Amino acid sequence: MKIFNLFPLTVLQSKIYLEDEERKILVNEINKVKNQDHKQKKSLYAWTGDTNGHEFLFSNNLFKNLSNKISSVIIEYLKTLEINTEYLDIYYQRSWATYTENEQSINFHTHSQSNISFAYYLLKPNKSGGIIFKSNELQNEIAKNIFTNSKLEKSLINKPNPYNSDRSMFDLEQDSIIIFPSKTPHATVPNRSGLPRISISGDISIMLKDSKGFEHLMPNFSNWTKF
Ligand SMILES: [Fe+2]
Repeated sequence: MKIFNLFPLTVLQSKIYLEDEERKILVNEINKVKNQDHKQKKSLYAWTGDTNGHEFLFSNNLFKNLSNKISSVIIEYLKTLEINTEYLDIYYQRSWATYTENEQSINFHTHSQSNISFAYYLLKPNKSGGIIFKSNELQNEIAKNIFTNSKLEKSLINKPNPYNSDRSMFDLEQDSIIIFPSKTPHATVPNRSGLPRISISGDISIMLKDSKGFEHLMPNFSNWTKF
């Protein structure tokens, strides 16, 4: 017998090691930015720079070395999908920090305005919460809602496995980076470490250097006409 799993979602995990000194500088900088507008009382949800007016973190030179290292991994992701990067201009469209205090998390969301997204774990104590990916299009859903949690509780489904699950969780160590298609719904598990968790996230836009003869993918914005 053979089982084929067709049409997978591709998530790339890699590591980017930073010197302690550099990590300290970046953490301090993020604390500084966050404290500018973190006057509100404690929330159930993590502080996310993109929704608080700090969505261009990589325009800060302190993050230059890290963003260069992330760029190389993004190229690897595109190569995994056999996309010819020589045809592309690739941009960090947005980049921001997330700061998750104890018991906080981030609800399911997508980054629908971009192509590729990533999360890099700058500060990730044990048990500070993984990332969960969810599929809204279960290829194996042979009957509507047959794989929902209640079916598991009632033992109609013996156990979750990659064929019958609509979500998958990664709990990665500090210095890990995870890269995924921006339209994939994702969330974080509540931080149960008692310590802060800091990730750096970003959205990447790709466009053709030269769109001549191509119908799909964004033509280079240098050719657009503004009105
Ligand atoms: Fe996100």
